[in-house]
Amino acid sequence: MNPFKSRRERLLTHMTKMGEGMAIIPTASEKMRNRDTAYPYRADSYFHYLTGFPEPEAVLVLIAGDSPRSLLFCREKDPAKEVWDGFRFGPDAARETFGIDEAHSIKTLDEKLPELIANQPALWFSMGHDAAWDTRLMTAVNAVRALARKGTRTPASIHDVRHILDEMRLIKDDHEIALMRRAADISANAFRRAQSLIAPGRFEYEIEAELLYEFCKSGRHHPAYPPIVASGPNACVLHYVTHDRCMKAGDLVLIDAGCEVEGYAADITRTFPVGGPLIGAQKEVVDLVAAAQKAAIATLRPGRAFHDSHDAAVRVLSQGMIDLGLLNGSLDGVIESEAYKRFYMHRTGHWLGLDVHDAGLYREETRDAGKILVPGMTLTVEPGCYIRPADDIPRAFHNIGVRIEDDVLVTPTGCEILTKV
Ligand code: GLY
Ligand code: MN
Ligand code: MN
Repeated sequence: MNPFKSRRERLLTHMTKMGEGMAIIPTASEKMRNRDTAYPYRADSYFHYLTGFPEPEAVLVLIAGDSPRSLLFCREKDPAKEVWDGFRFGPDAARETFGIDEAHSIKTLDEKLPELIANQPALWFSMGHDAAWDTRLMTAVNAVRALARKGTRTPASIHDVRHILDEMRLIKDDHEIALMRRAADISANAFRRAQSLIAPGRFEYEIEAELLYEFCKSGRHHPAYPPIVASGPNACVLHYVTHDRCMKAGDLVLIDAGCEVEGYAADITRTFPVGGPLIGAQKEVVDLVAAAQKAAIATLRPGRAFHDSHDAAVRVLSQGMIDLGLLNGSLDGVIESEAYKRFYMHRTGHWLGLDVHDAGLYREETRDAGKILVPGMTLTVEPGCYIRPADDIPRAFHNIGVRIEDDVLVTPTGCEILTKV
């Protein structure tokens, strides 16, 4: 079955179990970059998850109940505009192509919303995500409320539809896993290309260009987030994006990049030596981070908690920081006091999917425990160690920044690393 349709049906089933009602899921609007030039368009992740429909100015409406219905509001065909900006589906072709029950012009949405909302027991919506949409929906609800004397009922509650969708998005279906494998493969190829071009005298932006070239050449894929190419001391700036430094022999260069395939992200980090082999303090830190990643990945299997991988990485990193003379004290003391955070200040991973930091809770909703892993979850494992210069740190370690990041699928028996660089 069409995976988007089956997700709509699953959402409708959840809504029905929770008292029925109507979901309203708008896509993202186009954002202007400057004057009359827009940023490249990217659909809203929730809307994309449920429709696959690629155009802006579109809204999905799902009505639960005995005869559930899906409605799409989208742009009309417009031959004159299509000459300038390209193909538009229009409601008829959209309905056929995307397996929707009914499709209408987006121009009719504000007129039709009160009719659709009238007598629904509840609404499902991403409240607070877009102030203009909050107002638009409340205007429609108030139009229904004005009809109360005629016996029309206004929805008694508005639920955040993301509660259901986030839980659904946490466990990837086969269609999603196939796209994530492709994103991982293309991104791994881009890393191989980038690695082969690392050399003293090259600028960070040249390496960025190679990554983007590989993404585009493999099917006009965009990066899932702004790539990071951070050489020398720049590797200690976690979100470094300036990319204007010329690499020198003896540097490390940290590269964090991934492309997006039909909306699904890859997210890889490697730390490479520039102009020679890994030696000395740099090798010690790279080996430590690799060991932390190995320990973290060893925890990933159904039944374990999401946070176990972070705890395992922190244990290995903390012991290594003590052994390398970066921290004093006992392992338990360093963990208890969080002294390790001086060199490792981020978490060891995050959910990965349509958003690079994907939707989904990190704790169980019904009890005080970390989220328990189940097959189909996809996450990153990305320990690091970032050592800024300071009087109490041996000089050999100054400005070393290392991260190693892979993307992992939880399988019935353990896990699979998707990013084979
Ligand atoms: N590239 C973003 C992250 O690693 O979380
Ligand atoms: Mn990441
Ligand atoms: Mn990353």
